[in-house]
Amino acid sequence: MSEVRSQKIHRREDKVHKRIKKIGIIGAGTMGRGIAQVFALYDYPVVLVDEKETILQDALNNVKSRTEPELWNKVSGHIETSTNFEKIKDCDLIIEAVFENMDVKKEIYNVLNNVCKNDTIIATNTSGFSINKLAEAVEKPSCFIGMHFMNPPKVMKLLEVIKGEKTSENTLKSILDLSKKIGKNSAVVNDSPGFVSNRLLFALIGEALRLLEKGISDKEDIDAIMKCGMNHPMGPIELADFIGLDICRNIMTYLYESLKDERYKPTPMLESLVKEGKLGGKTGEGFYKY
Ligand code: NAI
Repeated sequence: MSEVRSQKIHRREDKVHKRIKKIGIIGAGTMGRGIAQVFALYDYPVVLVDEKETILQDALNNVKSRTEPELWNKVSGHIETSTNFEKIKDCDLIIEAVFENMDVKKEIYNVLNNVCKNDTIIATNTSGFSINKLAEAVEKPSCFIGMHFMNPPKVMKLLEVIKGEKTSENTLKSILDLSKKIGKNSAVVNDSPGFVSNRLLFALIGEALRLLEKGISDKEDIDAIMKCGMNHPMGPIELADFIGLDICRNIMTYLYESLKDERYKPTPMLESLVKEGKLGGKTGEGFYKY
């Protein structure tokens, strides 16, 4: 690349670094609605997009139920909802939070390639898909990055920021700067299956399930050891129920297949609970009864 062209790109990206003012969020499910709430609380205008009006209405009701009443006017005033992608065309940052499905995500990027401004940063909230693979579907991979919020986004302090091979330093700086502005502690990681958060978490959950299934201890005591002995707020088995056993199974399968590491292989008890539809807190029963 010529030096002049490279300088031009740098100048353009410097501008990006200085001005993330409006945020688009695609997908108003568990994560998208929570992320919208965080930005609105910090006075950023947000456009929240999903496929159906009913989902958007449900998202707003849910955000309202989780917002202090005195802050609701401000939060609702900052969130615009739409089923039309055109509404996000002037956003400086777009966060994709649709289903954890590679094809669905790539389809979204195809649409964004036609709708967004040239210098818009596109971020994905994927829990573990390769940022480099997803970046293949975006027009400007230098402006593509992972922003992995934890659930619930308003409560959890961490923002895991995933840098792809082609993510530019300015894109990274912009996101780290923004992360500070919304009160998050950011941690930067390179692209790798499950990043750091889910690789550590599911190594722990997998080992806890193997201890349980081998009869080394019962679930209450395994959880108590981590809570009282290691100061974890939740035990690993309780946490698996909280996350949802179907989601745990999917993430573990993905890690097992990508890393070829037995530690992540879903255990027989996890597989059978998922088959029986006992998915944890959300269905009233998982390893525990609720
Ligand atoms: P969800 O299933 O609750 O919500 C996904 C939303 O995307 C749905 O409302 C759906 O209607 C919408 N959607 C799907 N296709 C669309 C399209 N073409 N256009 C517009 N909207 C569309 O999923 P959830 O749990 O919010 O997960 C979203 C992403 O965040 C996933 O990549 C997941 O791996 C990741 N994640 C999830 C966490 C969790 O605890 N649920 C934690 C951290 C990351």
